[in-house]
Parts: sequence; structure tokens; C-alpha cells
Amino acid sequence: MKSPRRYHITTFGCQMNKADSERMAGILENMGFECSDDPNNANLVLYNTCTIRDNAEQKVYSYLGRQAKRKHEQSDLTLVVAGCVAQQEGETLLRRVPELDLVMGPQHANRLRDLLEQVFDGNQVVATEPIHIVEDITKPRRDSRISAWVNVIYGCNERCTYCVVPNVRGKEQSRIPEAIRAEMEGLGQQGYQEITLLGQNIDAYGRDLPGVTESGRHRHTLTDLLYYVHDVPGIERIRFATSHPRYFTERLIRACNELPKVCEHFHIPFQSGDNDILKAMARGYTHQKYRRIIDKIREYMPDASISADAIVGFPGETEAQFENTLNLVEDIGFDQLNTAAYSPRPGTPAAQWEEQLSEEVKSDRLQRLNRLVSVKAAERSQRYLGRIEEVLVEDQNPKDTTQVMGRTRGNRLTFFTGDLRELKGQLVNVKITQTRAFSLTGESLRY
Ligand code: SAH
Ligand code: SF4
Ligand code: F3S
Repeated sequence: MKSPRRYHITTFGCQMNKADSERMAGILENMGFECSDDPNNANLVLYNTCTIRDNAEQKVYSYLGRQAKRKHEQSDLTLVVAGCVAQQEGETLLRRVPELDLVMGPQHANRLRDLLEQVFDGNQVVATEPIHIVEDITKPRRDSRISAWVNVIYGCNERCTYCVVPNVRGKEQSRIPEAIRAEMEGLGQQGYQEITLLGQNIDAYGRDLPGVTESGRHRHTLTDLLYYVHDVPGIERIRFATSHPRYFTERLIRACNELPKVCEHFHIPFQSGDNDILKAMARGYTHQKYRRIIDKIREYMPDASISADAIVGFPGETEAQFENTLNLVEDIGFDQLNTAAYSPRPGTPAAQWEEQLSEEVKSDRLQRLNRLVSVKAAERSQRYLGRIEEVLVEDQNPKDTTQVMGRTRGNRLTFFTGDLRELKGQLVNVKITQTRAFSLTGESLRY
């Protein structure tokens, strides 16, 4: 008997890529492939790649080099590069790594079966042309049994001057509310408890769907979507990401406050605390507007947790402008902040500008910002001390197997003593006894 065909997927990058990988894994399993954690033991290796910063892209090339070598000894090995590097490089990637069988952009994830059939017919295939993303009929193979991602809008129509995402993810395409709800209902029936609705600029949801109300408002905004899906049976928690300050509305805050399943957590990247830098980034808001959004959130939901992304060392950023970013972090006090040194990306305007900063300046600013972030996050964590928080148990604490771990509604990682077999997928009330910058420890109140 022929041994089963095995696939391996390594995923780089953001949650959209993770969601795409899960859909592609579902397609491969439908085709009869079995999952292998070890790429060297698989006859189909797929790298789902990220190009947001140069180091993300370079990592892909080093992984790929090893598999390309292996292909010389194992001729039945199929090598696939999917995702954002695939989209950015296209044919060039084939020239760089001729051993590749398939190069496919993110919009083609749902077409994996068709594309592979062409490969198995003996073709080397590049699929990077923009397409209308077809609704997926295959069941994704989800990594978690508890928490799942649901795409609501693909692509991004913004043009932030540093960012490759619009080039690699294409134009915004919203899924219709009925398809989103149906997917969530399926997940609820399968026992999933938590859903994160995904979009690069999720506030743009619905703009491209037909139907405008008499007042001129789009009928299917993100806020409308939350009201439409909030009561899906079985789903206990709803999250969404990523919000853009330019389009963020008070109506959305009210919905989050009103709808019990929507978690008290907002992820709203600000990128810089300086108005001139924000302008050069083409972000379309000022730091004052950003602060007003946070004030408004805290007016309705004083305890909501706030996270964001920020970039240091954007071309031309002066020390004083960088300090405006520090000031914003100092004043707002984020629960979590993803920070990055600016990385010039091909095909983006800012990469062409002359006033690029040195790596030394960028890494010095990054370290200074990160230090402040930990101090502020530790302060924010302290508010949980002695409180009772609801934790959705996902896994064992890898560092202490007598403990389980999960997240609070505010998205803080929390550890407590317990048995995973009994607690996995349970919502447990936990009394917080210790706080750290980015995690908590507590005691279960279940017994
Ligand atoms: N759509 C989201 C973010 C998408 S990319 C938004 O608009 O905020 C995720 C994060 O990567 C960004 O928030 C930004 O902080 C960072 N990033 C994007 N391009 C970058 C670059 N060229 N250099 C460094 N960081 C970058
Ligand atoms: Fe990139 Fe800006 Fe779109 Fe975010 S909103 S994905 S930073 S272009
Ligand atoms: Fe990376 Fe593409 Fe996401 S570039 S951050 S994987 S959209």
C-alpha cells in the first residue's frame, strides 16, 4: 500500500496568515493529506510567509533554502510558498528558488486544491493576480479547539507610507454578514467559545457591500455586524482586530459596552505620537484625536484594556518627535504595545525617502520605548490584584505543568493551578494573587 501523503505548514506573520493557513490545512486534509509537524517528514511543505519587515522576509529564505536542498534528494517533494512574500515577489521567487512548485498570493488561499492539481499535472505555478475571494466551502483545520478566527474583511485600501499590506493583500473585500454568522454558528456547534473577527482595517467592514440606509450610513458597518452576530449560541466571547483610529466610532464603543459577549479589549494601533510623523505616515489622524478615542472608551468602559502597535525610527523622526511617542505611551498607559523599528519595504513610498535613520538610532529608541511599555503594562496589571477575573482555559502552562493558562476578557494571559483535562475550554473565575507586566497568576474559585 502507498504510504499516506503528508503535509507540513509553517506560518509566519499576523493572524490573517494564521487563519489562511488553517483554511489551507483544511483543503489539504480534504485532499487526503495528513498533517506532519516535521517538515523533513512531509512530501508537501508549505510556507505561509510575511513581508511586513525585512527580518520576517529573510527568515523565509533561510527555511526555504533547506527544503530546496532536500528536494534534490526527494523528487516527490512539493514545495509551496504562499502568503505575502509570494505575492510581493511572484515570478522573482521562482528565479531565486527554482525548486519551487507553487507560488501563491494570499487571495488565492481558498484555491489551493485547483492550484495543486496544476502542479501535479507537471506545471510550475504562480498565482498572484488579484481576484474576487471566493467563499470557502472547506472546513478549516483549526489549531485550537476553543478559540477561532473568522475573517470579516480581506485586504486594505489605506496607503500608510511604510506598509506593504495593501500591495500584498489587495483591495478591501467584505464577506457578507450571513456568511460570517453561518461560520460562527458552525463554530459554536463544534464547541468553540471565543471568536476573533479579523480584518487589517476592520472598521472598513461593509464599505464595499451593497446597501446604504436613508441616512447615508452603510448598512453593514462593523457595529451592525456585532449586533448581528452577538447572540450566536455557544460563543461566549467575541473579539475583533485591528481597529484604525481614523474610522473608529463612538457607536462601536457603545455596542461593545452594551453587548455582553464582546470583550472589553480594544486593539488600536497609533504608530506614532507625533503629528508630523503621523502626517508623513499618511495615517489620517492626530495624536489629539487618538487620545480623544481612548478618553471616550474609558468614559464608557473605565476598565477596558487598550493595546496598540507603534513604529520607531520612521524616516526623518527627530529625538523630539520620538519623545512625543514616549509621552503618548506615558499618558495612556497601554496594557500591551507591539513595537517595531521602522523597516524600509519594497514598493512603499517611505522606503524611497532620503532621511533614513541608522540602525543604532532605531534600536536605541526601540529599547527605550520597550522599557517604558513594560513599566506601564506592569502598572496596568496591578489593577487586577485581588480581583476576580473570568479566564477561558486554553492550555497547560509550558513552564509549570501543575498550572493551566488562559486569557481574561481583557486579554491578559493568566496562570492558575489546575488540571487541563478537566478545565480545557472552561470559563473559570480566578482570584488574581500576583501580577506581572504581561501576565497574571491566580487561584481558581471553582471549588
Ligand atoms: N492594519 C494594521 C496593522 C497591520 S501591520 C494597522 O493599520 O494598524 C502590523 C504592524 O506592523 C503595524 O501596525 C505596524 O506597527 C507594523 N509595521 C508595518 N509596516 C512596518 C514597517 N515597514 N516597519 C516596521 N513596522 C511596520
Ligand atoms: Fe498597513 Fe495602514 Fe493598511 Fe494597516 S491601515 S494594513 S498599516 S496600510
Ligand atoms: Fe505579514 Fe502579510 Fe500579515 S505581510 S503582517 S502576513 S498581512
